[in-house]
Amino acid sequence: MFNVTTSHDLVKLTSHPNIISLASLLCLMLILLLSSIVKSNKSCKVFLVDFACYKPPSTQICTSKMFSDRARLCGKFSETSLEFMQMILEKSGLGQSTYSPEALLRIPVDPCLEDTRREAEMVMFRAVDELLAKTGVEGKDIGIVIVNCSIFNVVPSLCAMIVNRYKLGEDTVSYNLSGMGCSAGLIAIGLAKQLLQVRHHSYALVVSTENITQNCYFGNDRSKLLSNCIFRIGEAAILLTNRPSVFKVAKYQFIHTVHNQTAASDRSSNCIFQDEDHRGQAGVTITKDLMVMASKTIEANVITLGRLVLPIREQILYVTNYIIRRFALTKVDSYVPNFKNAFDHIITQVGSKPLLDEVKRNLDLTESDIEASRMTLYTFGNTSSSSVWYGLAYGEAKGKFKRGDRVWQIAFGAGFMCTSVIWRAMKTVDKEKNNPWSDEIDGFPVDVDLEISDSTLYHFEPSEKI
Ligand SMILES: *[C@@H]1O[C@H](CO)[C@@H](O)[C@H](O)[C@H]1NC(C)=O
Ligand SMILES: *[C@@H]1O[C@H](CO)[C@@H](O)[C@H](O)[C@H]1NC(C)=O
Ligand SMILES: *[C@@H]1O[C@H](CO)[C@@H](O)[C@H](O)[C@H]1NC(C)=O
Ligand SMILES: *[C@@H]1O[C@H](CO)[C@@H](O)[C@H](O)[C@H]1NC(C)=O
Ligand SMILES: *[C@@H]1O[C@H](CO)[C@@H](O)[C@H](O)[C@H]1NC(C)=O
Repeated sequence: MFNVTTSHDLVKLTSHPNIISLASLLCLMLILLLSSIVKSNKSCKVFLVDFACYKPPSTQICTSKMFSDRARLCGKFSETSLEFMQMILEKSGLGQSTYSPEALLRIPVDPCLEDTRREAEMVMFRAVDELLAKTGVEGKDIGIVIVNCSIFNVVPSLCAMIVNRYKLGEDTVSYNLSGMGCSAGLIAIGLAKQLLQVRHHSYALVVSTENITQNCYFGNDRSKLLSNCIFRIGEAAILLTNRPSVFKVAKYQFIHTVHNQTAASDRSSNCIFQDEDHRGQAGVTITKDLMVMASKTIEANVITLGRLVLPIREQILYVTNYIIRRFALTKVDSYVPNFKNAFDHIITQVGSKPLLDEVKRNLDLTESDIEASRMTLYTFGNTSSSSVWYGLAYGEAKGKFKRGDRVWQIAFGAGFMCTSVIWRAMKTVDKEKNNPWSDEIDGFPVDVDLEISDSTLYHFEPSEKI
């Protein structure tokens, strides 16, 4: 009897159109949920086994005085250019013991050495050697190689040099990214992760380096002098895997990556570019649009990331604020989500001090949030794409990363592009011997001049907000 009533009620209920659509909606959601579970089961997990950063020898330390002396001696810069570079050095956030390429430390400066490939190889492979020694992984186990070989191009490519030196297997797939700017290191991580999803039981080696020895600018165009002053050498090698047997020794689990670019806009794609000045001297121009385009691209990246990682509460606050700002007549400040609810640590790319200040302001970070990045800039200078790895190594050397912590690396550069990668720490990382910071970490953090720098000093006046 009871049964009959219910089924009768059910018939009555289901014949109601709203209920039918509600039921089909529920079914749809269930299907979506199930399919997403199946999908996430299928997509394999990717782990970062370990990474290594190259620490140059102390013979390559370059103080700002050494830099100016050499710049003066080479006789190619005018007095105003020399003064300008000196001023940038003082305001750039670099310390007095960053490392410069050997060729630029020689007197007289002569970057046009004959191509000493062996020497380049030695520098290039030091981080890889260390990484393989640390992890005990052999060359033949590596199935994927990605090199960020930038402006320095050789034939055979750097990839080929690595395959040859470490005797990688014949079926190794290799990619060399070039010209993608400072975010290339993290783009390479995203690429490695995608490749690992289709190639099972593999290791992927990512090498992030830069050799601008031959790209030093010897002219007097101010917008090109900037990158001369703050670029320093650096290299990082990173090993990723999808081998389940390695998961328990791996340091980090890969969680997300988000890549954004605004290169479709001319202002954006022209804000950092390589060209020749009116006297035919090649160099990298940085225009005043850099700050605006950087803000815009970083914002796009952070919004996408926010949707992936922020707790619902922060997302609702953000959306509400957005709607209010759109439709309200009164001016309301934009709501910066509290990213500390989603991350325990943030490691940003270090380009120069004004960029770092801009990122800090945009994301509403505290000084201690960006300590790792400031110290990386101070100690190693602008090492471009490898800088986020020096920052990560800083956090490890300071013993800051505990098991389960979420770490956010964000890099940006020419294009303009911005890439974020999220990791989860798989273990509490102890102080390690072969960390580029280990012999001096107790002296950090050092005090740096925190006075908000005036970006007009850099010869790219801030453009109006767009
Ligand atoms: C950069 O390349 C030059 C050769 O063009 C080489 O002598 C130098 O050692 C290289 N530096 C690095 C850091 O790889
Ligand atoms: C590698 O990174 C440096 C910045 O490091 C960048 O200038 C260069 O173009 C990059 N090369 C790649 C991979 O795009
Ligand atoms: C790497 O890039 C260089 C030029 O940037 C190119 O000549 C070389 O063929 C590339 N190698 C691979 C393996 O893609
Ligand atoms: C940023 O990139 C994500 C994908 O990685 C994309 O969904 C999003 O639309 C991009 N945002 C902008 C503003 O381009
Ligand atoms: C940092 O160095 C890289 C490589 O030379 C360069 O492309 C980039 O523009 C520099 N960053 C800044 C902010 O100058």
